[in-house]
Amino acid sequence: MDNSLIGLVNRIQRVCTALGDYGGGDAVASLWESLPTVAVVGGQSSGKSSVLESIVGRDFLPRGSGIVTRRPLVLQLHKTDDKYEYAEFLHMPRKRFTDFAAVRKEISDETDRITGRSKQISPVPIHLSVYSPNVVNLTLIDLPGLTKIAVEGQSENIVADIENMVRSYIEKPNCIILAVSPANQDIATSDAIKIAREVDPQGERTFGVLTKLDLMDKGTNALDVLEGRSYRLIQPWIGVVNRSQQDINKNVDMIAARRREREYFQTSQDYSHLQSKMGSEYLGRVLSKHLEAVIRSRIPSITAMINKTIDDIEAELNQIGRPLANDAGVSCNPAQEGF
Ligand code: GDP
Ligand code: NA
Ligand code: MG
Repeated sequence: MDNSLIGLVNRIQRVCTALGDYGGGDAVASLWESLPTVAVVGGQSSGKSSVLESIVGRDFLPRGSGIVTRRPLVLQLHKTDDKYEYAEFLHMPRKRFTDFAAVRKEISDETDRITGRSKQISPVPIHLSVYSPNVVNLTLIDLPGLTKIAVEGQSENIVADIENMVRSYIEKPNCIILAVSPANQDIATSDAIKIAREVDPQGERTFGVLTKLDLMDKGTNALDVLEGRSYRLIQPWIGVVNRSQQDINKNVDMIAARRREREYFQTSQDYSHLQSKMGSEYLGRVLSKHLEAVIRSRIPSITAMINKTIDDIEAELNQIGRPLANDAGVSCNPAQEGF
């Protein structure tokens, strides 16, 4: 029941995306905006793509140092009952990817198709759906990282361009913000918190995700942040330990990474009292629950939006003239011939 609720929203989002491409207009745009999504924001290399991957539980995103994510990735997770796991891109309908390494390659090739093999960015999103028994139903958006200066090969305005692109996603009141900050940098300098605070000053729809706990200086810990004393949010702060670059180079898999993350919290002197509220799996569950509650509270306005969309499309059809609609009906449905 709850799953089908979120599944419905996922389907509506896909329809909107498809209709939008055919000039669906204002009605489609406002329907889209009434639905909740989750966007991942933060500084470059703070661990955004790593966090997304561990929520999904599969390795499929390009990650690494420097600017790797150069176009928004709109990722829809669909929980299925069968064991068969696959992915599909909107730009490649009907091609089912079962090899997630090939998904990663296609994300990077499709990024290059628009931006060239450069360090440029593009606001044109890539749409990817993952069907799996091992995911929670969520729509997640991976965004290019915020930076402070343009590097060689980037235009001067890239800093503002990225910031504006990120803001355009997270300023929508229905966007749940995963603000990713690395624990080995002072939280007061966090790009994620800075931009999240701009669009969500009360912290009502911002989840604080603290990465790289394992990389903090010995003798320090992140309890002030994780327990909400450094920067208060209404939603919880969740600490995670993702794979290091060395782990990625050595192809440490997701299962091993999650086991190590669990062990990290269980055995940590600083965090073991928080172990049931830390880690990637917990983050995924908390998000799914939150999203479900948000959708439940929005059902009346979503229903109103769908009805308005239908009214608008009908009004448009009436303007174009019914004969055309009849022709279309006849050609689509031979059974109606003769009417
Ligand atoms: P993004 O640029 O924010 O998307 O960050 P990525 O997910 O691409 O990660 C950037 C780099 O940081 C990669 O080399 C990751 O392996 C590394 N990294 C991310 N999270 C952690 C973590 O929790 N611990 C450690 N040790 N390394 C991490
Ligand atoms: Na990166
Ligand atoms: Mg990234």
